[in-house]
Amino acid sequence: MLEQHNENVPEADVQTPLDIQTTGWGEEAPRGGKAVLNRIIKEKATVPLFFGQTLISSLRDVGYNSTTSALCEHVDNAIQWGATEVRVYFRQTGKKGAYETDVLVLDNGGGMAPNILRFATSFGGSMVYDNRSGIGRYGMGMKTAALSMCPVMDLYSWQEQGAYYNMTLDVEAIGKERANLIELPDPTLMDQLPSEVSEMLTKPMSFPDKHEQMLFAEKTDDLRDRLGKSGTIVFLPSCDRLTFAKARTLCEHAVKEMSRVYRRFLAKGIKLFVNNRLVEPFDPTYSMASARHAKIPDIKEKESRLVFSKVIEIKRRENNHQDPENAETAPATVRLYALPIQDWGSLPLKVRKNDLHLYDDNTISVLRNDREVFVGTIPQIMKRHSDANWLRIQIDFAGQLDEAFGVAANKQGIRPKDYVLNDLSTALDAEISALREQIKKFQSEQTVGRHGSKPSESEMKADEAENRQAKPVPTPAPTTEEERRQLDENLRTLAMMLKREKETDDEAFERVKNSKHIIHYKHDVYWPFYHVDQRFGKIILTINTAHPFYERLYAPLSSAALTLDTRAAEGAPADADENASEPQTFKGAKEALVALQLMLLSLARAQSSMALQDPDRSHTFDLFRKEWSDTYATQLGTATV
Ligand SMILES: Nc1ncnc2c1ncn2[C@@H]1O[C@H](COP(=O)(O)OP(=O)(O)OP(=O)(O)O)[C@@H](O)[C@H]1O
Ligand SMILES: [Mg+2]
Repeated sequence: MLEQHNENVPEADVQTPLDIQTTGWGEEAPRGGKAVLNRIIKEKATVPLFFGQTLISSLRDVGYNSTTSALCEHVDNAIQWGATEVRVYFRQTGKKGAYETDVLVLDNGGGMAPNILRFATSFGGSMVYDNRSGIGRYGMGMKTAALSMCPVMDLYSWQEQGAYYNMTLDVEAIGKERANLIELPDPTLMDQLPSEVSEMLTKPMSFPDKHEQMLFAEKTDDLRDRLGKSGTIVFLPSCDRLTFAKARTLCEHAVKEMSRVYRRFLAKGIKLFVNNRLVEPFDPTYSMASARHAKIPDIKEKESRLVFSKVIEIKRRENNHQDPENAETAPATVRLYALPIQDWGSLPLKVRKNDLHLYDDNTISVLRNDREVFVGTIPQIMKRHSDANWLRIQIDFAGQLDEAFGVAANKQGIRPKDYVLNDLSTALDAEISALREQIKKFQSEQTVGRHGSKPSESEMKADEAENRQAKPVPTPAPTTEEERRQLDENLRTLAMMLKREKETDDEAFERVKNSKHIIHYKHDVYWPFYHVDQRFGKIILTINTAHPFYERLYAPLSSAALTLDTRAAEGAPADADENASEPQTFKGAKEALVALQLMLLSLARAQSSMALQDPDRSHTFDLFRKEWSDTYATQLGTATV
């Protein structure tokens, strides 16, 4: 047929060998597309703006991070169009290694009239195009998300009981189309759903356990009633591109993400089921009373504390230089929460990690029109810190700020403009730092408090080593009763200064009196990282918990050592699997901590003994300590005040 037309084509084209235009196409390329292209070249046929035969296939690659994030497009639509119940299904069939998975999303929202359904099936077809008040705005979500998982999207929608309209997008069928301009057919009306669909709604899935599943309907006969007056089904048979092979993993991932992404809607009463199991809201800021964490029996404090909340005006677009003063703005709300460290800090690791999910990367959650679009860390806001376990930030904005926050068409993630990040961190910086100081102070008091009234292992070790040291530390040797009384009085005063939390005056006195080496903690941002004192024959090493040395080296090490300690006390094996995922835990942490403390105690001892021999050295040591401390802080990435 093509040869037949060869004589009629203009000269330039005659010299082109037949089919040269598509010889560069891949072997699997859509045949209909090849035919149309050849016709366009040879016959000067009309060229559509969108070349459907290939475009539909290319659109399959519009990136979604995961099956869950693609499915969220369908849940978004369901919620936007008034659903109060949404069900997501992963039906797995076949044998291991050759699983087949069908995916389905059902909702009881308003449904679509036949002409709307047809229009909505087209790319760009939207009833809310560029509307910033809801979730959808691009006219792409339903189609691109479906095709990213499956070569076929099968839609059913109804606005009258038992009258289901069906539309299908089939990548392969469209690829075979030989028409230049592909038009969508009228939807087909059916009075029953096909059996493969109705079975999914009435039979239990292979995961989870049968008794955990609340079926949509018990029998096919009930379906008509149960499907009600209106609703929509997106059915994706035999998906070929899913993130996970097993229905179980697909379910677990979907539940984990959707419980967080839609938490506000779930809290308001929208019912979401994944494989017939109800999804409960999960709130990464722990401020929502109805969220899942509040039901954990071990916790006393059920909610985090709102430390700070502020509405800031953010420019909708980067300055247009003509009139920066009058740039249009829209509000965003930033909130900072403090987690109940006093209560939750002492919970077993298992509860903190597996039940509360404190160690998931959930520090900052960003919501657009109540739907979460980002969760994780934003370095420009959190700065260098990695200690985000006890604080949370929530940022709310409306669709007017889409450009500013860099919302992508597939609504996964954000790419905020620099000026937005600046505005956010200006609003939050001081508050975050103040909260961090409180958290650090609490943690260091805890660390210290745990020793009770016993000297620490390193203090004892240093004392034991005393009689093996070449040069003894001079100790006061009172000879008279009066001198002895005076010394005790001095030691009592010293003990008051060195008293630990939860220690009585007498306990502190006994401890100080009987130790030669004493480690003490202080929180002072103006101080070097350690300080050495020699009083009444005692070597006192003060560690500054406000210096980055503490935060970056000392605290992680001692918390790792303590975790192992507590776990051992609880009777759990120290090397249990879950241990590995607590970032600060490693075997040998305790020995390492003792060695580090001894390194500092020996430094303290050496300095005070050298200063004793020549008092001028004290001054040099002070300068040295200050300079070392500043250099170290700079290397660790923080400037000291
Ligand atoms: N579950 C549903 N119930 C009712 N109408 C729906 C449903 N899903 C889709 N629609 C209709 O189909 C249209 C197209 O949906 P699609 O998700 O492709 O685009 P959108 O939601 O308008 O924008 P976005 O690309 O941002 O998601 C919607 O505007 C809506 O009119
Ligand atoms: Mg949509």
